[in-house]
Amino acid sequence: MPVIAVIGAQWGDEGKGKVVDLLTEKAEMVVRFSGGDNAGHTVINPWGKFALHLVPAGIFSPRAVCLIGNGVVINPGALIDEIELLNRSGVDTSRLFISDRANLIMPYHILFDGLEEKWRGGKAIGTTGKGIGPAFSDKAARLGIRTGDLLDKEALLERLHSILDYKNAILTKVYGVSPLSLDEVYHQYCQYGECLAPYIRETTGMLEEAVNRGELVLLEGAQGALLDPDFGTYPYTTSSSPLAGGGCLGAGIGPSRINAILGVFKAYCTRVGSGPMPTELDDETGHLIRERAQEYGATTGRPRRCGWFDAVAARFSARINGFTAAAITRLDILDTLPRLKLCVGYKLDGKTIDYFPSSVGALDRCQPIYEELPGWQVPTTHIRRYEQLPLQARQYIARLEEFIACPANLVCVGPEREQSILRKPLL
Ligand code: GDP
Ligand code: IMO
Ligand code: MG
Repeated sequence: MPVIAVIGAQWGDEGKGKVVDLLTEKAEMVVRFSGGDNAGHTVINPWGKFALHLVPAGIFSPRAVCLIGNGVVINPGALIDEIELLNRSGVDTSRLFISDRANLIMPYHILFDGLEEKWRGGKAIGTTGKGIGPAFSDKAARLGIRTGDLLDKEALLERLHSILDYKNAILTKVYGVSPLSLDEVYHQYCQYGECLAPYIRETTGMLEEAVNRGELVLLEGAQGALLDPDFGTYPYTTSSSPLAGGGCLGAGIGPSRINAILGVFKAYCTRVGSGPMPTELDDETGHLIRERAQEYGATTGRPRRCGWFDAVAARFSARINGFTAAAITRLDILDTLPRLKLCVGYKLDGKTIDYFPSSVGALDRCQPIYEELPGWQVPTTHIRRYEQLPLQARQYIARLEEFIACPANLVCVGPEREQSILRKPLL
């Protein structure tokens, strides 16, 4: 059995949680590899409805080992709360392990996230406020504290002491806010360390063994390709790579070991936070999609911006990820619409272009060029076989496939596990 990376192909919230939960039935290992608790992965299954932020969506399987990889930044308090919530719902978390190389979100990261957003004023990114950007900045600046550091209290104190001195200088001298107490932060993180110690491991060996045993391993992406700091709508992006390539770095696996890359696309587009979104609909249809789909963030509850499927962005996403197959989710949300639009190009400064520009200035000026397709206007939520989908729905999917240049092997017609049409095997 192979390694399959499940990757967000748009601006996040494509339904990765649902897809991973569905595929987990046959998996022996599920690994989160990027982001932090900015992610919100909704899973609806016999255990209930959950919005997972750090724990992989494979946790509901009676046998899959779940890893939080080195590429994830971990807010230990948030993780402990999530584990407790799962346990209270009867979910066994004894097969969850955390990489000892994962960086921690510290209280000053959350403070800086808020202060930096305030400083950006009208150009705020609209972050989730979870401290993600500052934590990844510190990782790159080699100022991070890692999960493994929690296991050695003396070394933790020494490292925290020097880092907190520096952070407090910025808090007080640049932002004019109160400093954090070394004593309080240290004791809190010692407590977290005691709680999380049983979970903290060297995880790359576990991953290698599972791969060598030929078991099905899922790499669970967070966020989406258009939020990638290199290829997304920079600077309106997140701070770690949600791409398939990020899966190698954030889980600790070589590219040659990944057998399939499943791009998860919504049948339309959504985005939370600021930044360009060429197909955004600020009209009745946008409103209708938002309300019908209940497009509100799983992490922050913010309304998601809604728009037509952007095939230009989708093709770009397929290129930089190398998708071998796609999952199209939320097809059912389009059930009532008489006509559908697909953005197949942009008008930029009077010229027609078919690529996704790198600058947000250009993206802001891009006017979508639409192709119209007929809607199907019948319910699809009960359908379980591809051939039973209305002809117009199959035509719509076929057109998306042309742009993303890979087969849509999985189509979802509702949030529940069984509301899924596995058209062909994923490999
Ligand atoms: P993720 O971050 O990619 O895991 O996605 P989110 O959980 O943030 O948002 C996806 C939302 O779509 C969740 O509320 C899911 O329950 C829901 N969902 C997933 N697939 C489908 C589908 O095919 N149809 C409908 N109606 N909802 C879906
Ligand atoms: P999942 O895994 C959608 C967005 C934020 C903001 C930008 C930067 O559920 O798909 P950050 O807090 O990361 O510094 O915020 O990225 N964002 C997401 N949008 N889904 C997510 O995760 C997101 N994670 C971050 O809204 O625009
Ligand atoms: Mg989400």
